[in-house]
Amino acid sequence: MTTAVTPARPDARPSTTLAFLPRSLHGDRRRWHDGPTPVSLADLTTITRQVAAEVAAGMHEVRVDHTHRWSRRLHADPHLDVWLISWATEQAAELHDHGGSIGALTVVRGELTEWRWTSGHPGDHEVTAEELASSGPGLRRHVLGASAGVAFPLGHVHDVSNRRAEPAVSVHAYSPPLSTMSYYDVERGTLTRTRSELVEPGASPEGGQVRP
Ligand SMILES: [Fe+2]
Repeated sequence: MTTAVTPARPDARPSTTLAFLPRSLHGDRRRWHDGPTPVSLADLTTITRQVAAEVAAGMHEVRVDHTHRWSRRLHADPHLDVWLISWATEQAAELHDHGGSIGALTVVRGELTEWRWTSGHPGDHEVTAEELASSGPGLRRHVLGASAGVAFPLGHVHDVSNRRAEPAVSVHAYSPPLSTMSYYDVERGTLTRTRSELVEPGASPEGGQVRP
């Protein structure tokens, strides 16, 4: 059941979405530093911030569906998918990775909670007061408010959910576009892969979807 629709402003046109595309197509700017793609984690972060600003400015329609998490692909090319996702209360992904893709997300509005698997090795810079007391391997909680984001390097395993009463909206970018995802459980401090799935081109990302 779709319960809320925020239409795009009729006078608003996305102006920045395509600005990043030449970077992935110009050989002299290819870096291939962060994964099997010429698009870097920094590029993906910039892209999600740009598109999140467009969404905040009313340039894209947003729907919130309390039955099935709503998403819409805003851009697709051989190197890059960009998705707009809304999260009703308690909608969540499962604990997952992004296969051979790197990615990033930026929250447009609302708040998302990310539980991220962390190796917990000495000097782990991600340990903060809000995280689990243990300094060993485990899931660490990161609360992402509006304009906050996170980049997903290869091997990033996380769960994302909306624990607030208000819907959340986020923009996600993946490079190369998602083709596989694996899902995990954590028992007694051990991360165990439970299954892997192919992601069909154009299929909604972030897993955990309740299929109709
Ligand atoms: Fe994810």
